[in-house]
Amino acid sequence: MDYSNLEGYIFLDGQLLKWSDAKLHVLSHGLHYASSVFEGERAYNGKVFKELEHTNRLIRSANTLGFNLPYNTREICDIRKNVLEANNIIDGYIRPVAWRGSEMMGISAQNNTIHFAVAAWKWPSYFSPEAKLKGIKLNISKWKRPDPSTAPVNTKAAGLYMICTLSKHDAESQGFDDSLMLDYRGYIAEATGANIFFAKNNTIHTPIADCFLDGITRQTVIKIAKEEGIDVVEKRLTLNDIESYDECFVTGTAAEVTPVKSINEYKFIPGKICKLLIEKYTNLTSS
Ligand SMILES: Cc1ncc(COP(=O)(O)O)c(C=O)c1O
Repeated sequence: MDYSNLEGYIFLDGQLLKWSDAKLHVLSHGLHYASSVFEGERAYNGKVFKELEHTNRLIRSANTLGFNLPYNTREICDIRKNVLEANNIIDGYIRPVAWRGSEMMGISAQNNTIHFAVAAWKWPSYFSPEAKLKGIKLNISKWKRPDPSTAPVNTKAAGLYMICTLSKHDAESQGFDDSLMLDYRGYIAEATGANIFFAKNNTIHTPIADCFLDGITRQTVIKIAKEEGIDVVEKRLTLNDIESYDECFVTGTAAEVTPVKSINEYKFIPGKICKLLIEKYTNLTSS
């Protein structure tokens, strides 16, 4: 499996290209200086879940890095639709990405062309609710989510993912599935590509999203929980707090609602709240 060499079509700078022809130059600012933003989206049953929210976040991420995308919201939605159709995708993952090109190759890149691509690939919901309920194992990362004054923390800017990959690689090499990241103050923040929640009785606690991505799935799950009569509290959480919870789960476009079975030696038992939220989230994405 090599993502540069699949069958299908990728939109790149105005054209639908054969998958393996969608290339960029090695002297791209985005590659050297992380002047790149992206989205991770899913189509369920032919419909892109929270399409406008993802599109607007992409535009906002680009603006935060100081550039405008070459397409507006409606045009991006049309491009995405064409890519899904060209690749015959009903259930899949969609990856829009924008980056600064090659005109200037230094820290400053004011005049660089903004490139834009959209790829999509088939990605059915692999896990049955029963399989998902087994849960994932997290360790605790040595890397911290940064202070909002040191990085554009609430964007999907590529540079922010450097510490996520470092954390995830460490976790995997020690036999864990993923890593729980604390923030620069030592509070619980999120996993490397998903937000985190803890539950006990009929209450859910989740960290305040003030230095990490306030995920679209996070917002959706908070809404679902409230509609189901579950109390949701956004608060500062420390590692000392986790043993007071019975359940833990992460949320994200890729992860959907995935229970956590352990954080280091501390164990959780995916139960009533995980089951309910998986079921309601699945119903919503497929409706
Ligand atoms: C670092 C990080 N946190 C959280 C999330 C969850 O965000 P969303 O629910 O919008 O996919 C993601 C995935 O995009 C992510 O990469």
